[in-house]
Amino acid sequence: MTNPQWNAVDTYFTETIAPADEALTAALAGSAAAGLPEIAVAPNQGKLLHLLARIQGARSILEIGTLGGYSTIWLARALPTDGRLISLEYDPAHAEVARTNIARAGLDKIVEVRTGAALDSLPQLEAEGAGPFDLFFIDADKVNNPRYVEWALKLSRPGSVIVVDNVVRGGRITAPDPDDPAITGTRELFELVAAEPRLDATAVQTVGAKGYDGLLLARVIG
Ligand code: SAH
Ligand code: DHB
Ligand code: MG
Repeated sequence: MTNPQWNAVDTYFTETIAPADEALTAALAGSAAAGLPEIAVAPNQGKLLHLLARIQGARSILEIGTLGGYSTIWLARALPTDGRLISLEYDPAHAEVARTNIARAGLDKIVEVRTGAALDSLPQLEAEGAGPFDLFFIDADKVNNPRYVEWALKLSRPGSVIVVDNVVRGGRITAPDPDDPAITGTRELFELVAAEPRLDATAVQTVGAKGYDGLLLARVIG
């Protein structure tokens, strides 16, 4: 679902209080030129992620689903100079575009893009003793969202924040198509979060340049 008014309002918000700069503009242009799908978060959503990381006082962030590194740049800019962001990306071509975009933004010292299926990278991170991470942004293959939240919990501390993108998908979450694994995965995610005593959560619907969608926000109890 799209709506010209939603786009106009998003543009207004972005131009007034969440303006792009050279590195963000170049990241989107570089991603488009490389043929990446245009599914990065909207600018005002990127700014929301940035502010959440700042409000959280995050020093370490784990992102699942890098694409061209657009959300990565917004998040990494919230970190102190000795902070760390690890972003997991399945597609080596996406990861390469992202590394270029992140370096152009001057963030390559604090951001590491790891290539591979996230469900392979996550146990590696655990084995390395990475974490606990202060904030997680989950935005990859939706079918695995329940597994990603379980991993986020493992790599968290009391007070860690978990954000999951795209939990509404045009409203299809309440009209589940059993043949759409993204939707069944999202419903399983909500059941898991509901049953998990260590998580305190909400979800909000959003409209805008990204259509009709929404995000889930959770905090690890403690
Ligand atoms: N967070 C980005 C958008 C991510 S789009 C932004 O807002 O700017 C989703 C990304 O997840 C794609 O690049 C896709 O290749 C990646 N992805 C899909 N399946 C994955 C998996 N199993 N492990 C890691 N990344 C995956
Ligand atoms: C899709 C993925 C996303 O992460 C998003 O924000 C929008 C769309 C997709 O796979 O279509
Ligand atoms: Mg997304």
